[in-house]
Amino acid sequence: MNSTLAEREAVTLPPGHPGEGDPTYIARRGALSKLVASVDELGTSLPEVQYTEEETEVWRAVMDRLSNLHERHAASAYRQGFRRLGMSPSRPPVPGSLAQRLKEQTGFGLVLTDGLLDARVFLAHLGARRQPCTVYLRHGSRPDYTPEPDLVHEAVGHAPLLTDPEAALLNEVIGHAAAHASVRQLQALLRLYWFTLEFGLVEERAGLRAYGAGLLSSFGELPHAFSDAVNRRRFDLEAIIEQDYAHDRMQDILFVVPSLGAALAEIQPWLRSREYASLA
Ligand SMILES: [Fe+2]
Repeated sequence: MNSTLAEREAVTLPPGHPGEGDPTYIARRGALSKLVASVDELGTSLPEVQYTEEETEVWRAVMDRLSNLHERHAASAYRQGFRRLGMSPSRPPVPGSLAQRLKEQTGFGLVLTDGLLDARVFLAHLGARRQPCTVYLRHGSRPDYTPEPDLVHEAVGHAPLLTDPEAALLNEVIGHAAAHASVRQLQALLRLYWFTLEFGLVEERAGLRAYGAGLLSSFGELPHAFSDAVNRRRFDLEAIIEQDYAHDRMQDILFVVPSLGAALAEIQPWLRSREYASLA
C-alpha cells in the first residue's frame, strides 16, 4: 500500500538506526523521500539531487576506505564499469546522470526508491532491466554501516557491474523468473541473487575477486570476504538454493563462480528445468 505524501515526509527510522535522534538527518531523509515520491512510477525522468556538504563528506569517507580495497579485491568487470560510469571518489553521483550513463552501456535503468522493497517488486524491476536505487546516504556517524540500502550500496555496489552485459543479463533472468514464482521458487531466486549479485566472488586469472554489491560497497565486508573467517565454496546451484543467509551480520559462507558467463550458463537453463519447476 502506498503511504501518503504527509507520511512520507515524516520519516521514521527503525530503532537502532544511526540517524535516530538527529533531527537534521531525519528532516533531510523526509525531503529526499518527498522527492522520490514525486517521481513517476517508472522513474523515467529522474530529478537532480543536490547533495549537501555533509552527504558529500559521508561519500568521501566511505570511498577513502573503499578505493584501495577495490584495487586489490574488485572483479575486473566491476572496475571497468566504475570508470565507464565516471564515478568519483570525492562526490556522490547525481542519479539522473548515473542512470543515463548506465542506460548507454547495457540498457539498464534506475528506478528511485525510498528503502527496501518487497522481494517480488524488487525482482520485477530487475526483470525489466531497472535497478532500484535509493537516493539518501547513511548517517555520518557510521560510514561503515547502514541497516538499509543507501546510495553507496546502489551506486558503488550495484551500478558498476551492471555495465557488464553478462552481469546485466544475470540480473534480468533472476528478476524475470520472479514474476511467476511460487513461494519456494522465490526463496530460491533470492538465495541465488544473494550469493551471486550481492555477495559473489569470481575466480579471475589474477586470483579471487569480488563482484557482489554487498561486498563492494562495504569496507568492513570486503576484506572480511577474503579472510580465514569465511568458508569460500565453489559455485553450486543446488547448495545455494538450500543455503540460508542473514542480512544483519558479516557473511560466513560465500560462493565462487569461475566467471559470470559460467554462472549465467548454469542459472539460465536451470530456471527452465524440471528441477526448478518442481519447486512450485
Ligand atoms: Fe543490493
